[in-house]
Amino acid sequence: MEKILIKGGKPLRGEVNISGAKNSAVAILPATLLVEGKCHIENLPCISDVLTFYEILKDLGAKIELISKNEVIIDCTNISKDNPSVDLSQKMRASSYLLGSLLGRLKSAKVPFPGGCNFGQRPIDQHVKGFEALGANVLIENGIISVESQNLTGTQIYMDVVSVGATVNIILASVLASGVTIIENAAKEPHIVDLANFLNTMGASIIGAGTDVIKIKGVEKLAGGNTYSIIPDQIEAGTFMIAAAVTNGEILIKNVTPKHLESISAKLTEVGAKVDEYDDSIKVTGVPYLTKANVKTLPYPGFPTDMNPQMAVLLSVCDGVSMLTESVWDNRFQYVDQLSSFGINMRVEGRTAIIEGPNKLKGGNLCSTDLRAGAAFIIAGLIGDGETKISSLEHIDRGYENIVEKFKSVGADITRIDE
Ligand code: EPU
Repeated sequence: MEKILIKGGKPLRGEVNISGAKNSAVAILPATLLVEGKCHIENLPCISDVLTFYEILKDLGAKIELISKNEVIIDCTNISKDNPSVDLSQKMRASSYLLGSLLGRLKSAKVPFPGGCNFGQRPIDQHVKGFEALGANVLIENGIISVESQNLTGTQIYMDVVSVGATVNIILASVLASGVTIIENAAKEPHIVDLANFLNTMGASIIGAGTDVIKIKGVEKLAGGNTYSIIPDQIEAGTFMIAAAVTNGEILIKNVTPKHLESISAKLTEVGAKVDEYDDSIKVTGVPYLTKANVKTLPYPGFPTDMNPQMAVLLSVCDGVSMLTESVWDNRFQYVDQLSSFGINMRVEGRTAIIEGPNKLKGGNLCSTDLRAGAAFIIAGLIGDGETKISSLEHIDRGYENIVEKFKSVGADITRIDE
């Protein structure tokens, strides 16, 4: 079994390059199914979710030409299959986006219930509401979601909860629909804007992405033929920002959009770390004494839920009692028992974790429960006493490109081992 082995105690210093955003990539790759032509995509992260999407697209009839590990040309001109592979689809959450894109392109789709990280209930009622509002029939049977409509028609859709996935799916389903679709109470995450920019580059007509009202004017066809570069990964950048602060180090984090990191920068500044912003990089400098802060996760531009576990490790070394409240997912605190066994004084009451610091972290064995918990365990290992071994790396590999090499490049004592 592969594990990550870390010898803790080294301050991280140097520079690291952030990869393209996972959550943009996993929306843009299914979006290529809407395009009858070539899509040249740059700055794709080389992570297992992206590699799985290449397999899914190939199976559906796409031509995939890899230019490098981060650049691809995808041609979905000859797509005819509306039922992606069950095994591949169940490997990740974002396979649900095949519903919107295949519905838009082929007028029907049959997609298994998606996999991905388990944070308790992950309902899809808002996706279904959106498809039905556009005129589709939706049937859920034996773990397969089927959607079908010969005549998708634009309409006004109010989202009852702010959902990244439902916003993406409605955009995908409506790009080729007739008339205008208006999504109200839409998610505003940077990857929603990235998806809209990609689709517009390929010939779509979408305005308002990044605000809570998105307007999609249906077009007859997306002809592609253009090049698009994916935005930097907000969460990978945030993970390195926290690693710099907790290890009392200094990292220049390159290829980022500082605006997307504002909520993370604000919390790091609040606990006492130093954050310097440049045009497309950000420098985080740790200090020996950090103080408590309260953090609440919220949809963008709030503090991202996908930084919740990493933030818990940061708050554990801060002096005082910090409150970390999760307001997006029901069950995001599954990592807490393992961090407690690492010497973090933390307990969960309702949706809030109460963390009393500063704590001296031990080393030991940790098993990733999900992608971001895995990243937080690496950060815990970096400041833990002695050796830490982390297992279940498949979660981490789904979303972080070369994480071991990147941490090594800023001075961490970290390796992948077979045990
Ligand atoms: N929700 C509903 N009904 C729906 C859809 C969502 O009630 O039909 C609720 C969810 O239960 C949750 C909230 O709405 O409480 C937000 O869920 P959302 O749909 O926004 O999440 P998602 O699209 O499934 C994406 C990211 C997650 C990230 C969340 C929140 C992708 C592929 N995944 O998930 O990222 O946590 O948004 O920002 O974009 C990760 O990258 O590690 C990750 C899990």
